[in-house]
Amino acid sequence: MANPNAGPRLLPLLSTPHKGGRSALTCQFRCGNACAHDVANTTGNAYFGDVVKEALSRRGVLRAGALGAVVVGAGVAGAVPAMADEPEASAARHGGNSGNGGGGDLRFTPVSPNKDDALTIPDGYQSSVVVRWGDPVLPDAPEFDFDNQSADAQNKQFGYNCDYVTVFPMGRDRALMWVNHEYTDETLMFRGYPGGAEATEEQIKIALAAHGGSVVELERAGNTGEWKLVTSGRRRYNRRVTAQTRMRFSGPAAGSAPLRTAADPKGGTPVGMLNNCSGGTTPWGTVLTAEENFNQYFVNADKVPAEQQPYIKRYSITTGTPAESRRFDRVEERFDLAKHPNEANRFGWIVEIDPFDPDSTPVKRTALGRFAHEAATTTLARDGRLAVYMGDDGRFEYIYKFVSKDRYIPGFDRHNRALLDEGTLYVAKFTGDSPASEIDGSGKLPEDGLFDGSGEWIPLVSGTKSYVEGMSAEEVLVHTRVAADKVGATKMDRPEDIERNPVTGGVYVALTNNTNRTPAQVDEANPRPSNKHGHIVEIVEKRNDAGEKTFAWSLPLVCGDPNDAATYFAGFDKSKVSPISCPDNVTFDKDGNLWISTDGNALGTNDGLFVMPVKGKDRGHVRQFLTVPVGAETCGPLVSTDQRSVFVAVQHPGETDGAGPDNPSSRWPEGEGGQPRPSVAVVWHAKGKKIGA
Ligand code: FEO
Ligand code: CA
Ligand code: CA
Repeated sequence: MANPNAGPRLLPLLSTPHKGGRSALTCQFRCGNACAHDVANTTGNAYFGDVVKEALSRRGVLRAGALGAVVVGAGVAGAVPAMADEPEASAARHGGNSGNGGGGDLRFTPVSPNKDDALTIPDGYQSSVVVRWGDPVLPDAPEFDFDNQSADAQNKQFGYNCDYVTVFPMGRDRALMWVNHEYTDETLMFRGYPGGAEATEEQIKIALAAHGGSVVELERAGNTGEWKLVTSGRRRYNRRVTAQTRMRFSGPAAGSAPLRTAADPKGGTPVGMLNNCSGGTTPWGTVLTAEENFNQYFVNADKVPAEQQPYIKRYSITTGTPAESRRFDRVEERFDLAKHPNEANRFGWIVEIDPFDPDSTPVKRTALGRFAHEAATTTLARDGRLAVYMGDDGRFEYIYKFVSKDRYIPGFDRHNRALLDEGTLYVAKFTGDSPASEIDGSGKLPEDGLFDGSGEWIPLVSGTKSYVEGMSAEEVLVHTRVAADKVGATKMDRPEDIERNPVTGGVYVALTNNTNRTPAQVDEANPRPSNKHGHIVEIVEKRNDAGEKTFAWSLPLVCGDPNDAATYFAGFDKSKVSPISCPDNVTFDKDGNLWISTDGNALGTNDGLFVMPVKGKDRGHVRQFLTVPVGAETCGPLVSTDQRSVFVAVQHPGETDGAGPDNPSSRWPEGEGGQPRPSVAVVWHAKGKKIGA
């Protein structure tokens, strides 16, 4: 076996300019230095669980939905047509409709911001590492050996850079966990990594195998909130999905011309998934995983035919063969767009995976559109149709919603799985209600006291019908950004994760940051220029119905140092909140409290996980629940429905400029003498108390 760590040379891979709170290493490997490139959106658009208790039994497996607060028609927004509590259009001012949840009852002492190389949790809590990069997933996987890693081993082991986490219960003390593996940090994975042009083929194959996702079985430790990896026995569900797994397309664009390649002339069978960031869970117990910064894995985009160049540009697909490229084309020719110009069109989708069927083929659902998908959150409209909220994580990109044509029918698996193939894809437009002169870029609230207004979901495509002039339905689905440009969608400050409150029905979007927004480009929904710290948008749809096309919105949280006048914590006393910067992944607990993880904390301390009640007297009371180790971001937060466990994915520990295996900046979780390893951790209260209470 070739030694992937061969070669003592170090390439100057860390010199690329970068912005915000991220290290240059993160910028390079995560998003292909997106910040150093031109903004892709140059249009002139306005700058503006307890789940459905579905105990369905399929192939003998009890699925009660995800362990976490997956918001599927819960509370007021459920499939039951007759609803109480019709919110007014101004509901956004009050944090959704008038349920009792989301109102706090949180009593833990927040952790202080720090730069420690540790997972720091509140007093009274305990934590453990559930699974690390390299841990065996398949029963015949070898133990991890950092200096002798191989592609064969990596194909059977837990991948790199864990992101989205969801957990499905199998009885009380056993569960299945799905985890995304977003991207690889070759300079941390291999000693003396020489860059993609000179990497060994084995190193490139390891990287391909370290992408994708994992299914692993977990078991509860005693009668606690701790969960452990099952490490012996059959583990029949354990699975690795990688950048080389055979998949299929479904939906209206499957088989269309832009998806056809020499290897797949029918445009139906893509290979692999890339940069799977966050995701979602369906009511029928499958995973939706989101291909995000797929644009960075190809070379020679400048050589695709001229008529396709506007699309290449709009999606920032890599041109030439830059030094920072992983050069996957050196082991798989399909990544060279000069030879296979359509290959990049086969990435950037929402992929559905059945974690309960290890032999199932992952499905790229084309009806949900193609962009830098951050996540896909499902819920039910009042009439039972399935809605999916999705963000496109790029500067000045958009927020989308898909609504199925047909209704969800509990237990009717075959019918339900087709819901994601037929429906309408919408993009969001936000309009402020205050005079533009009052949105002065200082972060000062307008005279009506809120950054708020109204909005609409603009239809782009329904099945084979396009609503966008000059574009066919297939073109809208494959080149969705271009379609959204044409209908005047609102350019947002990097739309990340979206979640729906299981108690109030409000929809919350994390806008992580956008240092490129100029003073002339501020609007009420994105009110700060050079937005380093990001903000949260709260959307309350008409009648609190996910099937509606209009909504009210407001910004309950404008992030940063609370001493900075340009921050807003829903009017809560700012002397009592934790500083928060760069909200990224969000989730809800069963009580409707919003949990927010951060990525790229621009306040100079480590990233972490925070919680904020969205109703009542504690609305806006942000408290920090944990911090992650040096160089890491906090991903995949999940509060179990029994509220005894919090899972977090600690992504890219040690990803700081100049760090490498011979001088790591983090040794988490191995400790003294170890290498940093992206890992999923679980936190619980030592006395079994409800999380945060
Ligand atoms: Fe992969 Fe948008 O974070
Ligand atoms: Ca206003
Ligand atoms: Ca992220």
